[in-house]
Amino acid sequence: MRDEVIAPALLAWYDRSARVMPWRVGPEERRAGVRPDPYRVWLSEVMLQQTTVAAVRDYFRRFTERWPDVAALAAAEDGEVMAEWAGLGYYARARNLLKCARAVAGDHGGRFPEKRDALLALPGVGPYTAAAIAAIAFDEPATVVDGNVERVVARLFAVETPLPAAKPELTALTARLTPRELPGDFAQAMMDLGATICTPRNPACGICPLRFACAGHATGRASGLPVKAAKPEKATRHGVAFVGVREDGAVLVERRPERGLLGGMLGWPGTDWALSEPVATPPAPGRWRNAAGEVRHTFTHFHLRLSVMTALLPRDAAPDRGHFRLRSEFSPADLPTVMRKVHDLASADMADD
Ligand code: ADE
Repeated sequence: MRDEVIAPALLAWYDRSARVMPWRVGPEERRAGVRPDPYRVWLSEVMLQQTTVAAVRDYFRRFTERWPDVAALAAAEDGEVMAEWAGLGYYARARNLLKCARAVAGDHGGRFPEKRDALLALPGVGPYTAAAIAAIAFDEPATVVDGNVERVVARLFAVETPLPAAKPELTALTARLTPRELPGDFAQAMMDLGATICTPRNPACGICPLRFACAGHATGRASGLPVKAAKPEKATRHGVAFVGVREDGAVLVERRPERGLLGGMLGWPGTDWALSEPVATPPAPGRWRNAAGEVRHTFTHFHLRLSVMTALLPRDAAPDRGHFRLRSEFSPADLPTVMRKVHDLASADMADD
């Protein structure tokens, strides 16, 4: 099969079947001369790293309503951006998002660089994101490879090398397929195909526009590809979180250090998260008690079990760490998911009193 037949077949399918997304300029609009806004392309690609389209939609809408261009985002306060990001996960992305907006506003006159290599120099922009922005916003025939594309290409060429070792091979194969014309549509079409037809389980080969060229389908191997190396088991860590509520309803919260997990996000004072049960020192004197149940949350590399302590604190409480936030200045939606689970468990516990 010649490589050149793939892109036209895929683009013809994309013309008919492109998913509608708030950051996307669809094939029809593109033909009418509409150009994608690099700010929206960048923002969506950063949000979509490790996250599904469904999870990103509302966040993207809220961000672009509040900060409609890169200058507006660059001028935003860190805490506001972190709060708006809460729940999306992988919080280093939000810190880098701000750094990147400020770099574009400060060092590039408010315009995103157009070339992949220049984009790569921006904070939080890795090889995937640089290639995606260059292709989608600036028509550079860059090679865009995400998890969906890896799956499509592994099947198309029946690549049996397991991931992650297969990555260079899959990138080279994707480069061979990437057309000079419409590389951005091609990249997005590959992603859409991977998300809707060439799915991880039960791919819908019967309606696939690339079936005629697919070695994986021809050999009956499609659903078994890509092969993945076995992942090590995740360890379980333990910790304690303290939810202190002052008599006036203010809650004792703490900004987490910039570096490390959930860096820069708001959370509850607590212990480190360790493999053995930690020794816990409360952040303020009080009648701390264990809330019923524990919070469980899974991060990329470990499971976490957090036991939750609650206390009603006096008006003159002077905590050793953290700061009080009045109820009117506090929304659980500003917390990362694990900290919101702690809030919900503590609230249920305190409501029982
Ligand atoms: N996933 C990441 N970026 C995407 C895009 N531009 N279109 C579809 N899925 C995506």
